[in-house]
Amino acid sequence: MSKATRYETIILGAGAAGMMAAAHAGPGVLVIDHAKAPGEKIRISGGGRCNFTNMDVTPANYLSENPHFCKSALARYSQWDFIELVSKHGIAWHEKTLGQLFCDGKATQIIDMLLSEMNRAGAELWLRTSVVDVAHRDGRFTVVLEREGRRAEATAANLVLATGGKSIPKMGASGLAYDLAQQFGHDLVETRPALVPFTFDKGRFGDLSGTALPCRLSNDRAQFAEALLFTHRGLSGPAVLQLSSYWREGEEIVGDLAPGVDVAETLKQARQSNGRRALTTELSQILPSKLVSLLGQTHDLKGNLADIPNARMDALANVIHNWRVKPTGTEGYRTAEVTLGGLSTEGLDSKTLMSKHLPGLYAIGEAVDVTGWLGGYNFQWAWASGVAAGAAI
Ligand code: FDA
Repeated sequence: MSKATRYETIILGAGAAGMMAAAHAGPGVLVIDHAKAPGEKIRISGGGRCNFTNMDVTPANYLSENPHFCKSALARYSQWDFIELVSKHGIAWHEKTLGQLFCDGKATQIIDMLLSEMNRAGAELWLRTSVVDVAHRDGRFTVVLEREGRRAEATAANLVLATGGKSIPKMGASGLAYDLAQQFGHDLVETRPALVPFTFDKGRFGDLSGTALPCRLSNDRAQFAEALLFTHRGLSGPAVLQLSSYWREGEEIVGDLAPGVDVAETLKQARQSNGRRALTTELSQILPSKLVSLLGQTHDLKGNLADIPNARMDALANVIHNWRVKPTGTEGYRTAEVTLGGLSTEGLDSKTLMSKHLPGLYAIGEAVDVTGWLGGYNFQWAWASGVAAGAAI
């Protein structure tokens, strides 16, 4: 093995957080990634246009065992700072629904921007490089690497764990940050797939696959008013992804399938003006007709409006406003957009993201037990925590 190369800082992971930290960590930075290209999740995010932040970022949009932990970093590098950076690089963007900001062009513009910021800061990037071993002695970290079939060694005063969570192993997600954090005395908060579709028994929703509708989906902990999508394996769409972060196995979820519509009142008025209309026809004005057929399998929807008494209309409205289903599970890390849990924030300083156990060790991004909602919040955490660590180094 050749002689160890000395750096000031080694960052493990050239994803959103790692690249951002590299751009702020001053000279002498080496960024290491086992992938063949940096920022692969940025590239595929937001349908290829990267939902890079949100206009309305607040700490309430994040889940963590310590909900206060994210406050400092988010306050010191806000969505406005990132928007300014994007604009400085001439990247055109637009706002979609719910404050979500996307590139007008391709997500690769964000990767190019981060690479150019890293270059400006003089950071080195080693791709296709795997980490074999990490040790800490005499105040320095030694990282043994495998690169182009050869072993190499690099040392640094600072080590930043930025290898993300477990989501999408096919894209190279690994538990490296968790393993190293534990090696250096940090606790982990149990991890689970989040922002992930729910699965149901085969055939549970008949041929509804592809049907979407607005919905208010809730459980005891949270509620989200966004689109619900039936898939061939269960339920997806923004409302489902959001609620999945708050769901536990065995629990029911409740959907208001006609949010903002008073179904009972609508049916009663229609009975007065158009009593000979079939109930299913009227319901199909409110819900997708395939969903009406599905409800018809478990509830009596026969008859014309004129034949249906108030009590039956009220009961049916209740079914539609309080549609209760119990997922069998989720699609898991295979498709989850993020990982809930991770490195416990207890062992980290919230201003600098530095370890309280081992000075010089930092952890940022998704590897840390801070998980955002769908809508640009996870990238904003990656940028903010990356800047916090970079600036502290
Ligand atoms: P990230 O996963 O980005 O980077 C980690 C890096 O470490 C990777 O480059 C990986 O190759 C490397 N690595 C891992 N293990 C390693 C090892 N053992 N050795 C060396 N390198 C290793 N968020 C959002 O806000 N808006 C959006 O639009 C989307 N869209 C989206 C779509 C999809 C399909 C997914 C899967 C995720 C999103 N997200 C998102 C979430 C967002 O991508 C995610 O939260 C951030 O990328 C996290 O940034 P990190 O830098 O922490 O990890």
